[in-house]
Amino acid sequence: MKPLVIAIDGPSGAGKSTAGRALAARLGYVFIDTGAMYRALALKASRRSIDAGDAAVLAELLKASRIELREGGRQVLLDGEDVTASIRTRDVSALASRVSVHPAVRREMVARQRELGRDGGVVLDGRDIGTAVFPDADVKFYVDADVRHRAERRRAELQAAGAAADLAAIEHEIRERDHADMTRSDSPLTRAPGALLVDTTELTPEQVIERMLAAVRA
Ligand code: DC
Repeated sequence: MKPLVIAIDGPSGAGKSTAGRALAARLGYVFIDTGAMYRALALKASRRSIDAGDAAVLAELLKASRIELREGGRQVLLDGEDVTASIRTRDVSALASRVSVHPAVRREMVARQRELGRDGGVVLDGRDIGTAVFPDADVKFYVDADVRHRAERRRAELQAAGAAADLAAIEHEIRERDHADMTRSDSPLTRAPGALLVDTTELTPEQVIERMLAAVRA
């Protein structure tokens, strides 16, 4: 079978990256967590006290930045520094959503992501993969889940990383970020035509993978 391009989009905390990473492993594909790229830029901007609203400066900053995804997407390097843990904080989550609204930033990110996926054999996870990065992707998924369920997942992840987290506050942040990601003018999060909806609320991770593998095989 020719190596495919598989697109996974959906809101935060729905289980996209868990599913995408496992799917890539099962297929022997490369997993590309595009959200981690926006997060790395957000982290760098915050360290330099760059305003998240300053499109031109952010685009320049990105052009001068090396962002590498390693270990099947488990490790993220920013200019050679391991930032895997530091890009997962709540502050960076909110900031990543804010830096991602700028067309000049998105253009550069999209170009890099297309380059990474050029030869196929890739699973990309993000918000605009099936609509903007690879509109001709071979298989498209839209992974979603009930917002309370997503907040609980996020809280468990934050707690595992040693960060205290209040469920109501996390749910509020998730709703705000969804709203921002779905209403921005440049490539907002939306279900791409032809994308298979996978609602993970009532599914085990294994059931999610089985469903996706069946769609890929079909
Ligand atoms: O998937 P994530 O939560 O790590 O993504 C962080 C933010 O980055 C998200 O709120 C919006 C932005 N993003 C984007 O605009 N396009 C993508 N393909 C991936 C992420």
